[in-house]
Amino acid sequence: MKLKWPNIMFIGFLLSTVAVTFSESESSESESSESDIISRFQQYLKIKTNHPSPNYKQSSEFLISEANSLSLHSQTIELVPGKPLVLLKWVGTSPDLPAIMLYSHTDVVPAEHDKWDHPPFEAHLDSDGRIYARGSQDMKCVAMQYLEAVRKLKQWGFQPKRSIYLAFAPDEEIGGHDGAEKFSLSRVFQDLNVAIVLDEGLPSPDANYRAFYAEKSPWWLVIKAVGIPGHGAKLYDNSAMENLLKSIESIQRYRASQFDSIKAGLKAIGDVVSINTVFLKAGTPSPTGFVMNLQPSEAEAGFDIRVPPTVDTESLERRISEEWAPTWRNMSFTLGQFKQKMYGRDASGKPAITKTDSSNPWWALLENAVQEAGGKLGKPEIFPASTDARYFRNLGFPAIGFSPIANTPDLLHDHNEFLHKDEYLKGIKIYESIIKAYASYDEHEIDERFKDEL
Ligand SMILES: *[C@@H]1O[C@H](CO)[C@@H](O)[C@H](O)[C@H]1NC(C)=O
Repeated sequence: MKLKWPNIMFIGFLLSTVAVTFSESESSESESSESDIISRFQQYLKIKTNHPSPNYKQSSEFLISEANSLSLHSQTIELVPGKPLVLLKWVGTSPDLPAIMLYSHTDVVPAEHDKWDHPPFEAHLDSDGRIYARGSQDMKCVAMQYLEAVRKLKQWGFQPKRSIYLAFAPDEEIGGHDGAEKFSLSRVFQDLNVAIVLDEGLPSPDANYRAFYAEKSPWWLVIKAVGIPGHGAKLYDNSAMENLLKSIESIQRYRASQFDSIKAGLKAIGDVVSINTVFLKAGTPSPTGFVMNLQPSEAEAGFDIRVPPTVDTESLERRISEEWAPTWRNMSFTLGQFKQKMYGRDASGKPAITKTDSSNPWWALLENAVQEAGGKLGKPEIFPASTDARYFRNLGFPAIGFSPIANTPDLLHDHNEFLHKDEYLKGIKIYESIIKAYASYDEHEIDERFKDEL
């Protein structure tokens, strides 16, 4: 059949109308859902879950209502009264396969309101697209990105093979003892049959995302020197101050050697022992300050040391007892509670490290999934501080620290913590890709396919 001009024009008109209508409805839909996505993030940020009295009731209610809107199973677990952990579940089609755990903490550190350009609990979106709030990086972003990614996957009709758990835990910022620690040891957690835990990472100042496979252990060291007191005008050896200062000099040299290897680009922060002087305590008080003509008989200094699991701890302990606090220099030392508790070690006393080689399929899956979503992972790192991930690693579960935040300054615990909305939205796409890859992963199926190829 031959079409006459008017007919062709009519069809053309119809097509263009359809096209216009379609693209309009698509763009208005994505715009409205984008503003919905941001506004849900803002709602969570506005909940004051800051210490010392986090409002866990409100955060739990909010998370449960999100879960309901997504038709996820939900339960609230109170292993310690008043400290709820919200656990959501998206049931997989092969629920016998070990599950995926998307983990986050609900609490945030306090904020000094007067030092912020925008109030820390108003989640102000500025004209550049930055969202200012305590928790915007650490780690309410990740919690909501998990949920938004699940929302998108559900909209597309994606069916996870493995079950997916989302855990929102209290108290990470005060050590996680009533949160992750008790949860990891609970019957509830053991029954979940978890294969892999995802927890928080750190923002990256460049385009590569950061991912963490282990973390440093804090050693809180206090060294103390005692000596003969004396007149402030007298020169003599072995005063408490002199002996303490000798140690501090030695510690400073060690600190510089560690720091130099970072400055030279040879090592990352996670690979070296960091050591910082956090207090000095000495002097004889007077009504106006300190007595100036007296050399005191006691002097103390405190250090926050962070030790990577790759470091030989015995030699570090020797360094402390032989160089930094030797008894022959009339010195003594104490190491904070974490040291005694075999922090960051598994049951056999070995460093708790998640493998990043081919023995751990979850690492490669993460790398590929991030890449497929248009991102890139940097070299695997050791987390310089502590996260709840250690409790799971200590029990032998692989756990990866990852927050999809690139091109952003690290403002964890800092004033004016912010996240750009585009970076947040990109992070949701990254999680869509990761959740899809993780929830679909079935080693047996791959084996089968491999057999076919043979
Ligand atoms: C340690 O203390 C003793 C007793 O006060 C003193 O005789 C000695 O010189 C001190 N040694 C050092 C190295 O400070």
